Amino acid sequence: MTKVSVGEGVRLNYRVAGSGRTLLFHPGFANTLDVWNWVVAELSATHRCVTFDPRGHGASDAPDSDYTLDEMAADVIALIERLDLTDVTLVGHSLGGAVGLRTVLEHNTAGRITGLALVAPAVPCFVRPDDLEIGTPIDAFDGVLAGLSGSWVESILGAAGAFYHRTDAATAGWLAGKSLEMPAHLGLRYFRQLATIDFRARLADVTVPVLVAWGAQDQMADPRWAGWLRERNLPRWSVELIEDAGHGAMVDQPARLAELLRGFTATAPEDSSGQPRQQGRREVIAGARLDEELRAAFIEAMAGVCTPVSVVTAMDGDRPHGTTVSAFTSLSVSPPMVLVSLDRKSDLLPLVRDGGRFGLNVLGSDHAQLAGNFARKGKEKFADVSWRREHDLPRIAGAAGWVACTVTGLVDGGDHVIALGTVVAAETTATQPLTYHGRAFGTHRALDGSRI
Ligand SMILES: Cc1cc2nc3c(=O)[nH]c(=O)nc-3n(C[C@H](O)[C@H](O)[C@H](O)COP(=O)(O)O)c2cc1C
Repeated sequence: MTKVSVGEGVRLNYRVAGSGRTLLFHPGFANTLDVWNWVVAELSATHRCVTFDPRGHGASDAPDSDYTLDEMAADVIALIERLDLTDVTLVGHSLGGAVGLRTVLEHNTAGRITGLALVAPAVPCFVRPDDLEIGTPIDAFDGVLAGLSGSWVESILGAAGAFYHRTDAATAGWLAGKSLEMPAHLGLRYFRQLATIDFRARLADVTVPVLVAWGAQDQMADPRWAGWLRERNLPRWSVELIEDAGHGAMVDQPARLAELLRGFTATAPEDSSGQPRQQGRREVIAGARLDEELRAAFIEAMAGVCTPVSVVTAMDGDRPHGTTVSAFTSLSVSPPMVLVSLDRKSDLLPLVRDGGRFGLNVLGSDHAQLAGNFARKGKEKFADVSWRREHDLPRIAGAAGWVACTVTGLVDGGDHVIALGTVVAAETTATQPLTYHGRAFGTHRALDGSRI
């Protein structure tokens, strides 16, 4: 069993199989990661398949928390961040589909999720709304809830029969047994969410492509929602019915579901007629990931921007560490704040994160060589550098400016992390600055009569 912490001491059980484009599978209510076994067997030759037990489920921790869609969605994002997954297609089943939709709508701020696949999801609604004839009637829902409250074990085991359409009884029973790992009081808390879900007004706000796959024989989540979704003609949404599959289509028809996921995650944008094959997928990939041409043009454009140069520092125990950084700027005057942007691969980043502070040594025009030295990897960058410890941070002697900060936020920004620092000390000298422009160090010269 492999576990990852998603914060507040909560550890989730997860499994990774295969390599390639990443699929992250969120099971439905009470199911564990094993429900995806057959789909993973189909896809792990071409994809990195990450399965996990959500909080309260299977072998994951079961804290006494709220089990709201937002709490579960926050776990998904934390899991993605801790495992450093990018370009993720999130696959959510049933209530896990509602979590998935909430995740891309409200929590995907760093854009790591670039596709959403919903398998027999509890969206747009689960319970029948007043103005439609689709969905589980509220009386039927209340009956299921009462059954779960009164006889948890019988209800879970009994539901296994209705869950699948083709799957044999032994397999269905084995999977249902795993569902019983969930403590009943937490399960009920999570299950009650189903009564309040209504995403109808939010569907057009989804910015990643969505695949909906629904077992035509589903007896739990009304498959007529698939038709309703199709009629909406939402750009970037495609809807597929899987014949001969029930609510648990990933166990009834794993090969068919795998085929749909393979097509959905394929980058090939066109079929032989030149028409888009997967609606919207290519479009969004272009938006979410810079293609090579754009990346090269962007790097060139940034080389043309003149930047300051500083060495950002932090202590590594008793050892000073520093990194040359041009991506820093003042952020706020009241309170005084700065931001620096650090590459995820930077050795300084964990020191800043763990120590909760960083120093900015703003370099002067005679520090070009120093800037070059601190732009290398290694633990000996301070070997010939004169420095002292101030505010528990390494301060380089002779730097043009000095700003000491405590970290008040870390924000994901693609392959970098932005550290927000609240200033605790600042000093400057009248030294010509070191600048970086066109891949060369230089300095600034004021134009005549330009002082403002
Ligand atoms: C002029 C210049 C500017 C740089 N700016 C940044 C920057 O803003 N952020 C960053 O993470 N790395 C920046 N780098 C690259 C790092 O200095 C370099 O990757 C370094 O080896 C990282 O060291 P570390 O792993 O010890 O942190 C810059 C390098 C140069 C030469």
